[in-house]
Amino acid sequence: MENYNVRDLNLAEGGRRRMDWAQREMPVLTMLQERYRKERPFEGVRMSCCMHVTTETANLMRTMQAGGADIVLTASNPLSTQDDVAAALVAQYEIPVFAIKGEDDATYYKHIHAALDHKPNITMDDGADLVSTIHKERRDLIPGIVGGTEETTTGVIRLRAMAKDGMLAFPVMAVNDAMTKHFFDNRYGTGQSTLDGIIRATNILIAGKTFVVAGYGWCGRGVAMRAKGFGANVIVTEVDPVVALEAVMDGFRVMPMSEAAPIADVIVTLTGDLNVVDKHHFEVMKDGCLVCNSGHFNNEINLDSLAEMAVDKRLVRPFVEAFVLPDGREINVLGEGRLINLAAAEGHPASVMDMSFANQAMGAEYMLKHAGELENRVYDVPEEIDRQIAALKLEAMGVKIDVLTEEQIKYLNSWESGT
Ligand code: ADE
Repeated sequence: MENYNVRDLNLAEGGRRRMDWAQREMPVLTMLQERYRKERPFEGVRMSCCMHVTTETANLMRTMQAGGADIVLTASNPLSTQDDVAAALVAQYEIPVFAIKGEDDATYYKHIHAALDHKPNITMDDGADLVSTIHKERRDLIPGIVGGTEETTTGVIRLRAMAKDGMLAFPVMAVNDAMTKHFFDNRYGTGQSTLDGIIRATNILIAGKTFVVAGYGWCGRGVAMRAKGFGANVIVTEVDPVVALEAVMDGFRVMPMSEAAPIADVIVTLTGDLNVVDKHHFEVMKDGCLVCNSGHFNNEINLDSLAEMAVDKRLVRPFVEAFVLPDGREINVLGEGRLINLAAAEGHPASVMDMSFANQAMGAEYMLKHAGELENRVYDVPEEIDRQIAALKLEAMGVKIDVLTEEQIKYLNSWESGT
């Protein structure tokens, strides 16, 4: 393979203009970019990044490059790449990119290996595919790796499983678990972008629809909240009793998927687990039901069993495939069961990715600064980084907050005084 693989370099100028547009909404990352340009903390550091190739990611890449990093970028999903952005990074920033929207699985993994051929000192992952491939197939790279960062819930779960089994061979920072990441990106980002993806793919009216949200983690909460805001009749399905109780008290109906599936107009999965929508659910769905996923992997909907059940399959419109069942019912699967917000829309808006990617950049900086001191485990983003990002975001938004007085600090630190 050549040293990049993108759809069409002629798309570069449009991609760069869209990157600039997104950057206007990324003030924290821009501040970091300015600091990095002066301090060059990543001078000569080789980074392999496996992320959704979007305008926001491109701005993270520009930031790391401003800090001196020698970067290669590969897609973290076969269907999330914005081809114009991939072209801009190659043609205008000389960053090798391996990503083509709609690439098949074999190409996807060929691209992962191409990014690893860069022999990274730092890995930056969204879903842990780099870390997993290194541990399974490219162990020769481990001695050169200082550490990694991980963007998403699913990736952090995979990493913690590796660490628990004593398999993790270098430290990784769980960017997802930073408060300035998951409280905002997972909730408001996924909430808005998932609705955006469904609407762009289908152009349906959400108001009045029975809208089933599978999983009430931070992403599910965001989607349920936004669907309710659009006027949908929202049902939540959950496996955790405490979380299910929260959904009930947030005002949602909660029931098992087997009861929700027959009445659903739209079903969205955001659980991080597999076959959440399965054969026995397809058997009872209404004609025309829309089924999609906004969790990291495309295994939340059992598409193999739906394909086996179907007597016919046709593309109704871009990102909408109708599976025709023997009794004539049609089940519409959106975006091939892949992340609908990135397949049919543009992923989360730049303003939330600003904080997520400030965590990525500062997480990588921390890894480098503490090279050799860290254990081979999953690290949380240090609290001072999290708070610094929140403070910078507020400042950029022109929001001021109160400051504790000396008297209040003393009171909070004392145990003697009461009523
Ligand atoms: N994940 C969700 N939205 C994203 C975006 N806009 N860019 C990169 N990764 C994302």
